[in-house]
Amino acid sequence: KNKTLWGGRFSSGPDAKVQRFTRSVHFDKRLYKEDIAGSIAHAHMLSKIGILSTGEFRAIEKGLKQIESEIDAGTFRWKDAREDVHMNIEAALTERTPAGAKLHTGRSRNDQVATDMRLWVKNQITVDLQLLAGMQKALISWAGQNMDVLIPGYTHLQRAQPVYLAHHLLAYVEMFDRDRSRLVDARVRADVLPLGSGALAGSTIPLKRELVAKTLGFARVTANSLDAVSDRDFMLEYAAANAITAVHLSRLAEDLIIWSSAEFGFIRIGDAFTTGSSLMPQKKNPDVAEITRGKSGRVIGDLMALLTLVKGLPMTYNRDLQEDKERLFDSVDTVQETLDVMAAMLYDIKVNKATCTQAVSDPLLLATDIADALVLKGVPFRHAHEIVGQAVAVCEKSRCLLSQLPLADWKKIQPKIDPDVLDVFDVKKALARRLMVGAPGLKQIKAEMASWKKRLARK
Ligand code: ARG
Repeated sequence: KNKTLWGGRFSSGPDAKVQRFTRSVHFDKRLYKEDIAGSIAHAHMLSKIGILSTGEFRAIEKGLKQIESEIDAGTFRWKDAREDVHMNIEAALTERTPAGAKLHTGRSRNDQVATDMRLWVKNQITVDLQLLAGMQKALISWAGQNMDVLIPGYTHLQRAQPVYLAHHLLAYVEMFDRDRSRLVDARVRADVLPLGSGALAGSTIPLKRELVAKTLGFARVTANSLDAVSDRDFMLEYAAANAITAVHLSRLAEDLIIWSSAEFGFIRIGDAFTTGSSLMPQKKNPDVAEITRGKSGRVIGDLMALLTLVKGLPMTYNRDLQEDKERLFDSVDTVQETLDVMAAMLYDIKVNKATCTQAVSDPLLLATDIADALVLKGVPFRHAHEIVGQAVAVCEKSRCLLSQLPLADWKKIQPKIDPDVLDVFDVKKALARRLMVGAPGLKQIKAEMASWKKRLARK
């Protein structure tokens, strides 16, 4: 006779190959805490509506807590034959107390697994918010130690205009803050209880869904049983938010890789966060940053796998959905580990101020400032752009610095040029003139730093 929990109508158990192919316990066992919390809440509700006596509820609760501590301690025996985390725990419970046979009343693994995953997602998002705040703190700390360092800002990876290093790092603080708000937003839609939806069509038993939601800390209950057991949007959103975070981490990694090259030389990454070459004795490689850049491909892949998994499914639950867990787990694990190691690495980076100063001293970075100065004297911007462009061309031909082009040469381009517009070539003063909100002036950056420190102290 078939001994599975669903064996009633079967004459034999599954083929060994099928059992191996269909099981998920080897990866979904990590949901045990959520699964047990969900079962206790469900059993509690069943006792309130008279399906379980108080004694039966107590026995179930005790048995489940015992199972939980055995899993914590690593002594619980998982069985592949029991397919998944849900049936392993339920079967083990029933071995311990006959009341266990009543636990699955009005419940299906379909609403159960959706509940477990929503609980798990909510818990992990709390962890992520901490890790993202840690990353932001690391960036702020790095910026704070280098408030006087200027670097060229780049577009097209060509030197464009000078900025403070802190301004560049604060750009990442902004990105990681949007990542935080995406997660907070995704959590709102994860915060809905599917339990009570049954396999797909609810239950004839008058379950008190609101009570279960309250016990488990869900804000609401789902409104459509068909949607509730087949909806994976909350996972897609989470995986999408993770993919964006991974892309942000990858871009930061790319900046660090470029900056640590001999060609740039802006930073040195500490030995503890670099590795050597087995062949070239002189090498010190930014592997942590490179692996971070590489991992983003994997997190993007997890999102694509999940979207593809869901796209062709007819209503409602289909077993395909069992494949959702490993992809989401991978996405979450990868981003969490990367945030952790990258934040630690940022504390071990030294800035090479002399090289940065040298790079930013290129007067061409202030060409736009001369055009602006001409505009303030009444020259239309397009004419100003043309005048400075011609001056740059003269400098390129005669191999002189733009700041050293003689006044006579400027006058050849524009006879009426006012010599004091050429006073712009002081990079610190140039930055002090950038006064608007969002601009890289030192005053603005200091205000931004202060406001981030205050906001992050609360996180
Ligand atoms: N392990 C399954 C999953 O992860 C449980 C869901 C229900 N299974 C079923 N045959 N209806 O999706």
